[in-house]
Amino acid sequence: MNQSSVNSRRRALLLAAATLPLVMPDAHSAPAGLITRPIPRSGERIPAIGLGTYSTFDVPARDLPGTELRDTLRRFVELGGSAVDSSPMYGHAEAAVGTLATALNLRPSLFLATKVWTNGRAEGIRQMEESARLLQTKTIDLMQVHNLLDLKTHLPVLRDWKKSGRIRYLGITHYTAGSHAELEKLVRSGDFDFVQFNYSLDEPEAEARLLPACADSGTATLINRPFSQAGLFSKVRGKPLPPWCADFDCGSWAQFFLKWIISHPAVTCAIPGTRLVRHIEDNMAACTGRLPDAAVRKKMAAYFTSI
Ligand SMILES: NC(=O)c1ccc[n+]([C@@H]2O[C@H](COP(=O)([O-])OP(=O)(O)OC[C@H]3O[C@@H](n4cnc5c(N)ncnc54)[C@H](OP(=O)(O)O)[C@@H]3O)[C@@H](O)[C@H]2O)c1
Repeated sequence: MNQSSVNSRRRALLLAAATLPLVMPDAHSAPAGLITRPIPRSGERIPAIGLGTYSTFDVPARDLPGTELRDTLRRFVELGGSAVDSSPMYGHAEAAVGTLATALNLRPSLFLATKVWTNGRAEGIRQMEESARLLQTKTIDLMQVHNLLDLKTHLPVLRDWKKSGRIRYLGITHYTAGSHAELEKLVRSGDFDFVQFNYSLDEPEAEARLLPACADSGTATLINRPFSQAGLFSKVRGKPLPPWCADFDCGSWAQFFLKWIISHPAVTCAIPGTRLVRHIEDNMAACTGRLPDAAVRKKMAAYFTSI
């Protein structure tokens, strides 16, 4: 093909792209090509990459216009993203998500997960009602007991709320390997739709027992701290990606870290936190293309350790 036919083909493609409508996914449906996973209890599918809001979305309403968060959330949904994880512990994050989701009319596309993080039944109910108000939603898709705090008290309330439709799924969370034995015991009880915990190339402990327990018990998993709170990037700074990354459509270190996580068969969704559009685009690209198989996952871990 000569240069002028390349140019006219490029012009034709650009023209076609410009006339395409902006595709906004319906409630919890994903664009073709996006990697999705079923929630074992229901079969409902969610994209394998979501969005965390710890610290990144802790911005008071008056300061939101000075940030990229509006574009970040919009781009996340444009790229098919759905699961957003928050907590009353994250300062202004629930309010920021609620405000932006309403302003951009994104609520139908979002799978909203938040947490109860307090002691006592009455205070737990008050906090969950406040979360629904801040998130500007009648129904919260997933309510999790944050760091297992006062689990015994909150669990019966969560069950009632699920029955009455105020929440759709219930779960538990933690973020340290020291909690995994307790999480494993709870998950094996079969009481929880979701469990959220830390799992990354730097914190791979969940692989030994917790992830297999989730698979056995049909419990969906949300993976927090997928970059070990950005610690993984410090380890690989200035280091090249191995050339064999192209074999599983991986173009950045963020995609390397995320594809390693979501290619574990017991992982439902990893929830990296970011405030930046370019990082949302990078992270959501990990939710497309081929994934490494078990042998390549081992090679990735060995390569990372050798750096
Ligand atoms: N106990 C719990 O329930 C618990 C505990 C911890 C976390 N969580 C949840 O899990 C989510 C994820 O964990 P996390 O936010 O602590 O840590 P993380 O996702 O491992 O790392 C977030 C950091 O990575 C950076 N980052 C994101 N994408 C990037 C990219 N493509 N390239 C370079 N840097 C990138 C972010 O900075 P930029 O803003 O600059 O992108 C941010 O500093 C939290 O937001 C929260 O929702 C729950």
